[in-house]
Amino acid sequence: MEKQLTGTLALAVFTAALGSLQIGYSLGVINAPQKVIERHYARSLGVYSEDLTRTDEGNNMTHEDSTHPSVVMYWSLSVASFSIGGMLSSFLVGFVSDFRGRIKGMLGTNVLALTAGLLMGLAKMGTPHLMVIAGRAVMGLYCGLASGLVPMYIGEISPVKYRGALGTLHQLALVTGILISQVIGLDFLLGNDDMWPVLLGLSGAPAILQSLLLFLCPESPRYLYIKVGEKEEACKSLRRLKGDYDMSKDISEMQAEKEEAMKEAKMSILRLVRASVYRQQLFVALMMHFSQQFSGINAIFYYSTAIFQTAGVGQPVYATIGVGVLNIIFTLVSVALVDRAGRRTLTLVGLGGMCCCTVAMTLGLALQDVYSWMSYVSMTAIFLFVSFFEIGPGPIPWFFVAELFSQGPRPAAIALAGFCNWTSNFIIGMFFPYLEEMCGSYVFIIFTVLLFGFTVFIYLRVPETKGKTLEEIAAVFQRKRDTSHSKAQVETELETLKNSTEA
Ligand code: GLC
Repeated sequence: MEKQLTGTLALAVFTAALGSLQIGYSLGVINAPQKVIERHYARSLGVYSEDLTRTDEGNNMTHEDSTHPSVVMYWSLSVASFSIGGMLSSFLVGFVSDFRGRIKGMLGTNVLALTAGLLMGLAKMGTPHLMVIAGRAVMGLYCGLASGLVPMYIGEISPVKYRGALGTLHQLALVTGILISQVIGLDFLLGNDDMWPVLLGLSGAPAILQSLLLFLCPESPRYLYIKVGEKEEACKSLRRLKGDYDMSKDISEMQAEKEEAMKEAKMSILRLVRASVYRQQLFVALMMHFSQQFSGINAIFYYSTAIFQTAGVGQPVYATIGVGVLNIIFTLVSVALVDRAGRRTLTLVGLGGMCCCTVAMTLGLALQDVYSWMSYVSMTAIFLFVSFFEIGPGPIPWFFVAELFSQGPRPAAIALAGFCNWTSNFIIGMFFPYLEEMCGSYVFIIFTVLLFGFTVFIYLRVPETKGKTLEEIAAVFQRKRDTSHSKAQVETELETLKNSTEA
């Protein structure tokens, strides 16, 4: 009798999700201690005493102006170098996962996380801003790989019945990581002048635990059976994951997948971009990722403490923690709804809701000097913004791409989507502070326009994939394609793609 949820399966999912936790921690950790670290940068750049300290006439109060151009630049780079790392390594997910398997892939990438942790943890011993920027970039390399490896491993070892729920654990662990970093980033814990390097250095800590636990986790049976043809080993893994049961059904399923994979052309990213037969799917997949990032979510996750400050919130750090808590709650709501309400509906509601919130945020920020209660409007709008994000636009794109593509083009599509995601993440991380300086209270209007455009796009172009088989999803795009291509044209192109890959 198949046990479905065994201790080994739980351990394997938990171990993999430590990678997602680490991604979340690294995303969130830079938020709360911004001012403290900026001050440190200013001191080490030698701009603290002259340019950064000024005395207000009359009241003799000294305060720092952390917007010195060099500080803004080094701070933006500290935030954004992380996503540059992610951008570069997301291309390598397919290679790393197939090279020696998923387990060794995750184990190997932990070297990056540990190196990054050391660079940041020891930042005060060198030139702090350079050590932090380097550490964040290496951590980004780790995260780009982990954001592909973790969902892949969890998806491959989960029983069909639990695949959706276990799959969303990636985003759940990620948002938990964000919250942990926000809490220990409080100034009386680690977010202070003495301890901030430890706070950043801890980004590498889950990698130590994960590396130890990975030795206890079985390799993915699908990798063993389909990729390397080790049937015996695949059976051993299945038995460890599912207990003693009749595995013939699982074996024949993997056999069918293997045959399917052999029929289809395995595709490079370049070939996928050029193949007009997949253009519709690709466009939809990439737009889902663009809409996730250009919704402006990471402007909040990287900079919410500063934004809350501008909005006149008394304890901005606690408001940031409130955002982290809501983030977890609404990811759980999404887990519950995603297979009932559907991907398209939740994404539409999420993006539409976020669009309205940006209008409220702008009104709040613009009018807070006239009506003091307007700061509550901005704060509530930020909370709702995050909640709408986690209902759909947050978790869905990560697994939606795999649903849109079949075996052949899937790895290339996932790599490309990951690349677009991290690139847009970089653009927001790097340029948001500049935009904010330029536009002031009106900065969120940019996201209002983008979010409106994305909502219309999803409404017009994205099909529902809930409860549909891969063939049914492919058929939806086939029908769309038929208006521009004849069936013969499509078949010829698919055949050419297959032949050119085999050659
Ligand atoms: C998604 C995004 C990530 C964002 C996070 C917030 O995973 O990819 O960039 O920070 O959600 O919850």
